Amino acid sequence: MNVLGRYTRLLGNLRSFSAPKRQHLSTTTQTVTLIEGDGIGPEISAAVQDIFAAAKVPVAWEKVNVKPIVLPDGHTTVPDECIQSMKRNKIGLKGPLETQIGKGAVSLNLTLRRTFNLFANLRPCRSIEGYQTAYSDVDLVTIRENTEGEYSGIEHEVVDGVVQSIKLITREASQRVAEFAFQYARNNNRKTVTAVHKANIMRMTDGLFLSCCRDMAEKYSDVEYHEMFLDTCCLNLVQDPTQLDVLVMPNLYGDILSDLCAGLVGGLGVTPSGNIGFDGVALFEAVHGTAPDIAGQDKANPTALLLSAIMMLRHIDLQEHASRIEDAVFKTIREEKVITGDLKGTAKCSEYTQEIINNLN
Ligand code: IPM
Ligand code: MG
Repeated sequence: MNVLGRYTRLLGNLRSFSAPKRQHLSTTTQTVTLIEGDGIGPEISAAVQDIFAAAKVPVAWEKVNVKPIVLPDGHTTVPDECIQSMKRNKIGLKGPLETQIGKGAVSLNLTLRRTFNLFANLRPCRSIEGYQTAYSDVDLVTIRENTEGEYSGIEHEVVDGVVQSIKLITREASQRVAEFAFQYARNNNRKTVTAVHKANIMRMTDGLFLSCCRDMAEKYSDVEYHEMFLDTCCLNLVQDPTQLDVLVMPNLYGDILSDLCAGLVGGLGVTPSGNIGFDGVALFEAVHGTAPDIAGQDKANPTALLLSAIMMLRHIDLQEHASRIEDAVFKTIREEKVITGDLKGTAKCSEYTQEIINNLN
């Protein structure tokens, strides 16, 4: 397929999934699509399910298989069962999925984001009391454009030894992620939104992204707006992360900065993530790897998936359940008695899970 064909297909993909309006369901049971994931995925998913059951959260799980399907044209898709389940439920939770580096097939993680048009990736990073890192008072949020930019997957060989990757930035995608960032800041009592960019170098692409953020800032004058170069932002983040609040940026910068921010509070094992789409559609996920070396050994730390599931509860307006479980997780970590190896404890995943259940108030 030529470049234009791939470009049109990408834009087509972005518009392909639009779910009907979600109803407000806080009193009835909400069915959630569950993608357990590979490696440690099933163990950490079981931990989340056990804790939710103990906390009597009105959520029912619908497990689906997401084994990738490679179409004749080389594009990757997911089984119809998964698509139909997300269309019905609109809300999903996902464990880590294996990505085969350099094998040609598109990462399933990206396929899922594109299939369900999950245009914003949201990663709050907050210091966890009792879990020692270089900083104790981090509280920031990265919001990443999730569908295009450097992740558009438009790459080709120009001639032997010369390859090209196209960074695609559209006004439509930039506006909607900018709007999401300002809305998020407003709804969550955040003071500032900072657009992170390299528009001094990528004048057209980052320039368009930035101008969309500027326009949005005018509509949300109650939220302070700043701009920062990506490199300066990295420097500031490691020197004094308390200077920053909500960060919004194109896809690849968001991938990198969200890992940096996760590192400030203890790593990917304790950082939640949510992929947000239209009309309430959202897929929450643990973004750490599948840890095949410890899979099946009851050693994994389910915190990232659990915190993502808590984000999910807030998204579907189950605030009280969310806070109750969150308090129990943080209490368990703070007490340091029953924590997993990666948190410098000796507990098994199942023991840590039970301790969280014991700590539910
Ligand atoms: C993330 C991950 C993914 C990404 C990978 C697994 C495709 O690093 O969610 O941050 O690069 O977006
Ligand atoms: Mg990443």
